[in-house]
Amino acid sequence: METQLYQIKDPEKDAAILQKAAEILRRGGLVVFPTETVYGLGGDATNQNAAMAIYAAKGRPSDNPLIIHVATPTEAEPYAVTSDTYYRLARHFMPGPLTVILPKKDTIPLSVTGGLDTVAIRCPDHAVARALIQAAGVPIAAPSANRSGKPSPTCAAHAAEDLTGRVDMILDGGDCEVGLESTIVKLEGDRGILLRPGAVTPEDLRRIIPNLSIAPAVTAALGEGERVLSPGMKYRHYAPTAPLVLLEGEETHVRAFLIEKAGEAGVGILCFDEEIPVMPKNATLFPVGKRADLETQAHRLFAALREADATPHLERLYAHLPPMEGLGLALYNRAIRAAAHTILHVT
Ligand code: TXA
Ligand code: MG
Repeated sequence: METQLYQIKDPEKDAAILQKAAEILRRGGLVVFPTETVYGLGGDATNQNAAMAIYAAKGRPSDNPLIIHVATPTEAEPYAVTSDTYYRLARHFMPGPLTVILPKKDTIPLSVTGGLDTVAIRCPDHAVARALIQAAGVPIAAPSANRSGKPSPTCAAHAAEDLTGRVDMILDGGDCEVGLESTIVKLEGDRGILLRPGAVTPEDLRRIIPNLSIAPAVTAALGEGERVLSPGMKYRHYAPTAPLVLLEGEETHVRAFLIEKAGEAGVGILCFDEEIPVMPKNATLFPVGKRADLETQAHRLFAALREADATPHLERLYAHLPPMEGLGLALYNRAIRAAAHTILHVT
C-alpha cells in the first residue's frame, strides 16, 4: 500500500488535504493523525472492516479495544450511554487528554470494542484531529499509531517509521504537546476507576469524582492469571531493547551512581537536563528535561526511548523513578512498564 504523507498546520488553509483524508476514512481506509497526546491510527468507528484493518496495520490482538474519537462531548450520544458524571467530566476536561469508558450502544461494532459491552470515548484537543472528525462525519476509532511493541509516536516521523506502507495517509501536524497517552477513567454509575494515568491527573479527577479509585495495575505488577479491567493492561508492554532500570533513592546518591555508571561501555542514561554537565564526557545521555519539569519529561519520554533503541551497542539503560503525584503518576506508570518493574534502590 502506498502511504501519502502531508504536512498540515492550519485546518482551514489545508481543507483540501482534510477532505482527502475524510474521504479515505469514509471508504474504510486508514489515516494517521495528530492529537495533543500521541498520534492516532484512525479508521471509521462505525465500520467493522476499518477496525479489522487497524488491528492488522498495528499488529495488535483484536480483543484490545479501540478509543472512539469525537469532535465534541455530545457527539458521543449515538454511540455510548452517557451520564451526568460524563458531562461533568466533559465540562472540565474535554476537549482534552481524557478518555471515558461508558456502556456502548449497538452503533459501535463489537470488533471495535474487542467484544466488550463498553466503549471508550475521547474528544481530542487538537485542531487537526477535530477538523478531521468533522470532515469525515463519522467518529474515528484510533489506537496510538505505533506498531504493537513500540512506544506511542509523539511526532509524525515516529508514526511513519512504524506504519509507512500499512496506512493510506499520514497527516503530519508536528510534535504532540503532551507526549503520553490520555488518562482513561471507567464510569460505573457515579463511581470512577482510573485505568490509565495521563495528563488529567487523579487530583484533577477527584474534584469531580471524589471517590475515584485507582486500578491496582496502574502502579503494580500484574499477578499471574490476575483479571484486568482494561484489556490493554494484560499485554506485554513496550520495553526498550536495552533493559531499563529505574533508580530510586536520595538525589545525591542516585546522581553519584549515575556518574559512575555513565562511564561504563554499553550504558545509556535518561538523565535530567541539570545532570548533563556533571556526567563524564563520553557518556551516552538521553536528556528528558529538568527534574522539576514533569511536563517536559512527559513530552520527551517516548522520543528518548526511541532514540535509545536506535543507538547501537547499548546494553543497559538507567532512568530516575518518577514521583507518583500529579503528572508524575503517568510517567511512573509508563516507566515501570518499560522497565518491566525493575527498580533499584540506591543507598
Ligand atoms: O491518547 C490516547 O488515548 C491515544 C490517542 C490516539 O487518542 N490513543 C491510545 O489508544 O492510546 P490505545 O489503543 O493505544 O490505548 C487505548 C487503551 C487500551 O489499553 C485499551 O485496552 C483501553 O484503552 N480501552 C479501550 N476501550 C476500553 C474499554 N471499553 N474498556 C476498558 N479499556 C478500554
Ligand atoms: Mg497504544
